[in-house]
Amino acid sequence: MTSLLLMSDNINWLSELKAHLPNIFIQHYPEITKANEIEFALVWNPKKGVLAKLPNLKVIFSIGAGVDHILRDESIPKEIPIIRMSDPFQYKMVAEYALLTVLYVHRNIETISKNNNKKVWTEQTAAYTPEYTVGVLGLGNIGSVIVDKMQSIGFSVLGWSRSKKNLDGVETFSGFRELETMLPRCDYLICALPLTQETKGIINKASLSLMKKDSTLINIGRGEHIEEEALLSYIDKVPLKKVFLDVFPKEPLEKSHSFWNHPKIFVTPHMAGEVLPKSAVFAVKKGIDRFQNGEPLENIYDRKKGY
Ligand code: GLV
Repeated sequence: MTSLLLMSDNINWLSELKAHLPNIFIQHYPEITKANEIEFALVWNPKKGVLAKLPNLKVIFSIGAGVDHILRDESIPKEIPIIRMSDPFQYKMVAEYALLTVLYVHRNIETISKNNNKKVWTEQTAAYTPEYTVGVLGLGNIGSVIVDKMQSIGFSVLGWSRSKKNLDGVETFSGFRELETMLPRCDYLICALPLTQETKGIINKASLSLMKKDSTLINIGRGEHIEEEALLSYIDKVPLKKVFLDVFPKEPLEKSHSFWNHPKIFVTPHMAGEVLPKSAVFAVKKGIDRFQNGEPLENIYDRKKGY
């Protein structure tokens, strides 16, 4: 019987997979009873060396839009396709997080919260939203939903991607030269890029020094997009108003890390967009159906492009 190996601590996957893939035998790592039957693997942060030992593995599904957690295991044969998770609910969730962080600053919630603690009532002067610009780095599945969300609230939106993209009502930029034009215009900069050789460290001394005074940086891509030392020095040099960090090169973020104590940095525990089995199981089912029907797979990780 065709089998799928699940490598995830989220046990909700089990009931969803069993309900939606009744003809597939689900094995939950570390309990592998029939290694030869495993054709599919659904994984988050797979233990190194395990996938390479499965003789009949055909497709690897990532429990995540990113696949960097899989690529860390270099023993996985390069010819096995890796499928990026494509779950519309996750995209919505990430956009919701982006909006939450932007509005936290835009509506001055930090001050109001401090005032609450002191029982202080101070009337606020509202900012006129269309005069504020949100810049989105990365205009793929996730970035484009963030763009829509920001536009629906009335922000002016700019978007940057590796190759030129056209999106309704958005001024778009591509390539590193154009990034230099876009950065100084953003009141909010949201990094929603995939991690590639080109995007690693994109938030560095040079880009930070181009950011607008009092702007806010939000990173929901990967921790490696940010050069940490540069951020720690430019946060007060620019100065930035607030920085929301949801992703880190090493997670959980170590207790000794200086990000925790920085008054302008808000650390969140990689929560921007979870992949919920209830919704994401349909993407897995679709991929397996396509594979079994001999149709081309979608959302395959492209080793050349790096995403
Ligand atoms: C989360 O970070 C993901 O890759 O989906």
